[in-house]
Amino acid sequence: MLRALFTFKSPAGRGLGAGLKPWAARWPVLLAGMMMLLAAGCSFTTKQSTLDPHGPVARDQMDLFMVTVRVTGFIFVVVGSTAAWVVWRFREKPEDVGKPMPHQAHGNPLIEIGLIGSSIALLVIIAIPTLKSIFFTMDMPTDNAIYPPSKLGVWYPSPPVKSAEEVLEVTVYGYQWWWGFDYKQFGLVTANELVLPEGVVVKMNLRARDVIHSFWLPKLAGKVDVIPGRANWLWLMADQGATGLYYGQCAEYCGEAHAYMLFRARVVSREDFVKWMEQSKKPVLPPGVDQPWATKALQDLAAKDPKSEATDPQKATALWAAFLARGQEDKKNNNINTANLKTEVEKGAFLFFDRSGCAGCHTINGSPAAGVVGPNLSQVASRTSLAAGILDNLGDNGKIDPDKQLSNLHKWISDSIHVKPGNKMYTTPVVGLRDVELKNKNSGADPTAAQQDQDYKDIAAFIQTLK
Ligand code: CUA
Repeated sequence: MLRALFTFKSPAGRGLGAGLKPWAARWPVLLAGMMMLLAAGCSFTTKQSTLDPHGPVARDQMDLFMVTVRVTGFIFVVVGSTAAWVVWRFREKPEDVGKPMPHQAHGNPLIEIGLIGSSIALLVIIAIPTLKSIFFTMDMPTDNAIYPPSKLGVWYPSPPVKSAEEVLEVTVYGYQWWWGFDYKQFGLVTANELVLPEGVVVKMNLRARDVIHSFWLPKLAGKVDVIPGRANWLWLMADQGATGLYYGQCAEYCGEAHAYMLFRARVVSREDFVKWMEQSKKPVLPPGVDQPWATKALQDLAAKDPKSEATDPQKATALWAAFLARGQEDKKNNNINTANLKTEVEKGAFLFFDRSGCAGCHTINGSPAAGVVGPNLSQVASRTSLAAGILDNLGDNGKIDPDKQLSNLHKWISDSIHVKPGNKMYTTPVVGLRDVELKNKNSGADPTAAQQDQDYKDIAAFIQTLK
């Protein structure tokens, strides 16, 4: 019996595998086995599963998907079982051999009109929830509060939002190959890790800085293209209680490192969001501000205008100026033998601004680094990953592991071309790390390999303090 099943040979030798070599006759079983093996690898809750929604938009899309799965599943079962039944019922039997073909009936009006009618009915069943989903995802939940609700507006339930102030707005910038996130309401710019409060409607304005990208955060929202010159947008919301990390990805081929253009969304409680926002907005101070030089710099600043108290950004500017002057003093004497800047972090901070030119492309709030070509680094060490999601900073306990983070930073700075092939930090002509290294080599100012690596380590140590 089993043997018969495996060879697909009917006793009369006229079955499915008739006339084939025995191994060839087994292909349907092999195929079924492979499909089962493949299916065994499926999981509905993987990092980028669209079948594990954690917000109303993703859930709406999942529900729509399930409607089409049910309708098409129904069609598959009806058509498939009819076809199987017909093949079996009207198969050629031994006694039919040599007889003429039976009468071929077609053009039965009842069957044809019935088939057309049921196809239309099935398409309507899919069309109604599709239209509903289009309105749901393409109307901001505030629209009902701002405009009188249309008939369609009251047709679907949207999260309870009463005014535009309740909506968080984030402008997303797609770059080759990373993501910028601009919280304009709060005057805060960050990158690659989108921090969102739970249970809050978020409007994402999607803008491209170079080529077409596609914003895709499967567990919270769908996928919308980010196109130069087009003001695309989408809205999303993480469910109340859906705190945690969500994994996004650029979903439109955008060049060499497209596959490495990941991002993360970190959904936190509303209190934690406010805390993060306040912490992130603070100007970053240079290292060593507990030392006498810093006290003196602040005294000098106060003496300039005794009538009014200096603002935090003004203090940060003065402290950075004093810090960098101390570095320049060291450099004048001897670049390596540092008298003023002693710790790795201090040396790294100076290198960041001076020899490596990092400040030309990156911004650190409050410091003279105000570049907009690369990601804003002001809170880079508070992110759970590095290099647009490629290097994971998390330890086994789900928290940032400082050792892992430091080693990732060093790896990224010293060997970015292998971490993310094609990345602009390395490849940009003249100012890219590749050209800087070459220039050093050609001018004879090349530091030894060990010194170069120590420089990278120092810069990594400094960047790890940016929280
Ligand atoms: Cu950006 Cu693909």
